[in-house]
Amino acid sequence: VKKIRTHHLREMKERGEPITMLTAYDMYTAAIFDEAGIEMLLVGDSASNNVFGNETSLPVTVDELLPLTRAVAKSAKRAMVVGDLPFGSYQASPEQGYLTAVRFMKEGGAHCVKLEGGEEMAPVITKCVQGGVPVIAHIGFTPQSEHTLGGYRVQGRGDAAERLKADARAVQAAGAFMVVMEMVPADIAREISEELAIPTIGIGAGNGCDGQVLVWTDAFGIRTGKMPRFVKQYADLHGVLLEGAKAYRDDVKARTFPGEEHQF
Ligand code: KIV
Ligand code: NA
Repeated sequence: VKKIRTHHLREMKERGEPITMLTAYDMYTAAIFDEAGIEMLLVGDSASNNVFGNETSLPVTVDELLPLTRAVAKSAKRAMVVGDLPFGSYQASPEQGYLTAVRFMKEGGAHCVKLEGGEEMAPVITKCVQGGVPVIAHIGFTPQSEHTLGGYRVQGRGDAAERLKADARAVQAAGAFMVVMEMVPADIAREISEELAIPTIGIGAGNGCDGQVLVWTDAFGIRTGKMPRFVKQYADLHGVLLEGAKAYRDDVKARTFPGEEHQF
């Protein structure tokens, strides 16, 4: 199998073939999504909520994300593996951002990194790209800034559309090879996608982007509870695992497991 490279993603945009991305935090999900033909696996800082049990993405650290990134990178045969720079690991300076990104590539085995921010992150993006790290920018709603943005809110509405477009242009000019847009109006996301040469990936950004990303624990229903509007649920893993665990419990309680065939 041929590995997905940045130029393949650019070619997909040019021929109008949508790009698929899912989060993955471990070896089995990475192997399954890779086998399914998903082009990009994001070891998101959403592992903070989905692996480590935190309420937001803010607490997760580089040292926590690196082993997950390494596990995903080891089992992805074709997919491009994206390391997600966590809160506080790149905003201080381009040097800090570059050194963190290098850790994700050297220690984590990531093929590229993603970082949150638009125009203000241009120097960090340029530093990384000049140092051999392909960068994906993440604009619109950026969860690491939930306390400055005032909670989970759609970004780029009304007058803020020009700001969002300026961010998209700035990250492309700084050298990002892709941009993720989260929770922005579909018409603005479509306009940006048409204008930019680099592919755009949407999450809550409508159907006019060059690709889509979902958090796997949302998409396949292992997580329960209130889902954001932009999530579509493709499986009910919570139900599957719950039934399995109950059947095992019942078997053991009834001494119907282990059976003859499981004994020595
Ligand atoms: O961490 C994450 O899962 C993300 C996606 C929502 C894009 O950044
Ligand atoms: Na993230």
